[in-house]
Amino acid sequence: MGPPEISYIELPPSVLRKPLEYPGLPQEVLVTSGANSCLTKAVLDLLQTYTAANATVLEVGSTSDAGMEELLQGKDVVLHVGLPKADATSEELNRFLQQTEALLHAASSAKVKSFVFASVASVVFTGSDLRAAGADLPPASPCIDAHTAALSAAEQRVAAFNGRGGALATAVVRHHNLYGAGDADLLPALAQHAREARMQVVGGGDNVVDFSYAGNVAHAHLLAARALAAGGSDAAALAGCAVVATDAEPVPYRQFVGGVLEGLGYGSKAATSVPYAVAFSLALFFHAVAFMFGSVVALRPRLTLGRLKSLTRFQYYSGAAAHELLGYHPPWSRAEALQITLQSADARALRNPAARVRPVGPFSAAEVARHRTADDAWIIVDGKVYAVTPYLEQHPGGDAILNNAGADSSAGFHGPQHPAQAAEVLQEFYVGDLLQEPLRKDMQGGAAEARGAEQRCGTCAPPDPSISSYINEYWGRRCPNAGLQTVQQRSNRLVFAGGEWGTV
Ligand code: HEM
Repeated sequence: MGPPEISYIELPPSVLRKPLEYPGLPQEVLVTSGANSCLTKAVLDLLQTYTAANATVLEVGSTSDAGMEELLQGKDVVLHVGLPKADATSEELNRFLQQTEALLHAASSAKVKSFVFASVASVVFTGSDLRAAGADLPPASPCIDAHTAALSAAEQRVAAFNGRGGALATAVVRHHNLYGAGDADLLPALAQHAREARMQVVGGGDNVVDFSYAGNVAHAHLLAARALAAGGSDAAALAGCAVVATDAEPVPYRQFVGGVLEGLGYGSKAATSVPYAVAFSLALFFHAVAFMFGSVVALRPRLTLGRLKSLTRFQYYSGAAAHELLGYHPPWSRAEALQITLQSADARALRNPAARVRPVGPFSAAEVARHRTADDAWIIVDGKVYAVTPYLEQHPGGDAILNNAGADSSAGFHGPQHPAQAAEVLQEFYVGDLLQEPLRKDMQGGAAEARGAEQRCGTCAPPDPSISSYINEYWGRRCPNAGLQTVQQRSNRLVFAGGEWGTV
């Protein structure tokens, strides 16, 4: 068995850039950043990509109260998304609570219009299964762990400030199992466990749970800020309330973990599990030790009884309130969100160092252009893409391959210096075809059916069939492999002229 492989696919622009807009979102926005900056990054990204707002960042935990008041002057919106890490100490959690309180005071005196707070859906989780649970459930008492308890306490303060000073309207947007670029909790923990071959799944892992991509959650925050700032009946309905924003695709815990581990090059089977009874006995043992010696030594066992419940129970939430009050629908599907996350620089740093990255085409010229250095060199020869980095050192023509790396090297490759066998050697490095430029989109469906002879090109299946926006990307193009013209799009199918229907 060779080294584990990580498939590298090009993310189509339709996945990277969704058609989002936030009309009415005020101009001056303050965004908080905390020890887990995943959500902060996603919010800033959306603000920068889709709005003309001025964003100021406030570091929770290191900004003085006076500095906070200064930063809040002239702000219309506060997005308090700077989360503490899941394993924050009690001092860090206390500091987070104090700063949240100070931020609320400062926002109220600065006449900020909307204040949206990021919290976790598990503030209502008591340890029993939750299936399609609404955000209106009462907060759990006690909470499942100290982190959740701190966020629950912060939520109550946020709600108490709603309407203060006549101007401030507050709302809470909860997520569950946050992940995305810069995630400091979920992905790093899974990667570390995989490296140390420790368990990531307790019991069967069949418990269905929600996951929340940071981009989706950030989108919900902007919708909430906009709705609160707009005033009127919509704002009144939302003010003082909490909603849950997830990927809206609950999935068995094991399946998600397997997907992440595979994407990081550990193989989906790296999701090692431990029987529930064993994990329970261990957690009980740690609990007893912490109870007996906790006052003498600072003990923070990772496997607590609360954590065990979070890992093994069903926990998925109803998105009805977010949909009704914000018009929220997750812009990114879970498959898309995972691809984006796994290709982020932060996730690349978590990969199995022994894994080999295998590019899987087709690729656009823009993607090829990103690979033009000696340690990552792709070339185009006759409409096909070759990742030639391993050959650079052996090349009899030296560094000349880099002359046109990242671009079309056909002319140079067909030069007289190359013996016939160079073409054979080149094939070893083939990674996919070059995408043709989009054709006109006006050959709409109907014509295809009339001809009665359509076909899906069998050789160019999408990298992940669940990425529906793949269709948007390839619709209107000629199939790079068979040269067939796309003539129609039907739900999750592309139809090509010249054959039968097929499912993409
Ligand atoms: C098999 C024996 C080969 C020989 C003797 C050879 C020789 C050469 C020589 C002498 C040059 C020109 C160097 C210069 O102008 O300074 C060259 C350029 C180049 N070779 Fe090779 N080569 C071989 C195989 C390959 C293979 C297998 C590849 C691809 C994997 C390749 C890709 C290129 C490219 C892309 C250029 C530069 C073309 C440009 O300027 O755009 N060569 N090679």
